[in-house]
Amino acid sequence: QQRDGRMEIIMKIINFGSLNIDKIYHVKEFVMAGQTIKASSYQTASGGKGFNQSLSAAKAGADVLHAGFIGQDGQFLKKELEDSHVNVDMLETVDLPTGHAIIEVNAEGQNRIIIHGGSNLCFDISYIKRVLDQCTANDFVLLQNETNCTAEIIHSAHQKGMQVVFNPSPMPEDLSLLPLSDVDCFIVNEVEGFQLAEALGLHPSEKEHDHILSVLAENYPEKDIIMTLGEEGVLYQKGSLKHHMKAFPVNVIDTTAAGDTFTGYFLAAVCKGKEIYTALQEASAASAIAVSRMGAGPSIPSYCEVKAFLRERIPQ
Ligand code: RIB
Repeated sequence: QQRDGRMEIIMKIINFGSLNIDKIYHVKEFVMAGQTIKASSYQTASGGKGFNQSLSAAKAGADVLHAGFIGQDGQFLKKELEDSHVNVDMLETVDLPTGHAIIEVNAEGQNRIIIHGGSNLCFDISYIKRVLDQCTANDFVLLQNETNCTAEIIHSAHQKGMQVVFNPSPMPEDLSLLPLSDVDCFIVNEVEGFQLAEALGLHPSEKEHDHILSVLAENYPEKDIIMTLGEEGVLYQKGSLKHHMKAFPVNVIDTTAAGDTFTGYFLAAVCKGKEIYTALQEASAASAIAVSRMGAGPSIPSYCEVKAFLRERIPQ
């Protein structure tokens, strides 16, 4: 109940997400086939697209439940989520190594990533059902493609009447095998956007991002489609409602988790009933801050930092 007497609907984000131990190597240039190179530095940190998105949404003030699996070596990931007020009651420890990522970061701050699923591949129908039993139809289900059982998660959440937000990253080998019509919101980059259109049976005549987005939105006017474009910002379209939010210029140190930070902040703002334009602006500011810092989890800013950044960049 709000102070003005109106009933406020509390929406949660249920993130069926991966948790990774990121092994980060700084290199001048990416290693080539047949080459051996020396890294200038090495560190391990928290990561995984699911983990990053939960952390980001929670920092933006959303009520987040993270569903997933870690091994004994990944207990620090649970602690970091707990410290940021993510509900980890459904997070399970299994007798497997935690998922991990090998990340090369070059002098321009770009990355190349190899992931190993490990404990992230322990989802099954009975676990999905137990998690969904904790939710109401008002909640959002968020998922990426670093876990198994993505089709089952999408389908079961949709059956329950929940809003399904899907970030198909890394792109599945055959996206068309997933129940894509059960997804309410897609968050993709330019390349993924083209693959998504193809998987939906659409055949964009050009690979240009505006065209791909129009084809998707014209054929699926009821779905929210967000296309992240790196330095060029982000495009949003739902039916005829369209926005282009330019990226905030910053000194790029490491682009790892920029998209995850965007996703978490965007969805948190939507959950709180904010306008799409405001959600895009806060999410863009959060990801701009994230790319100006090292690492995945550790680069995600607090909501205070995002507000201060926006005050500085967009004088009132
Ligand atoms: O999106 C960035 C993430 O991708 C990293 O944290 C790494 O774990 C991989 O999952």
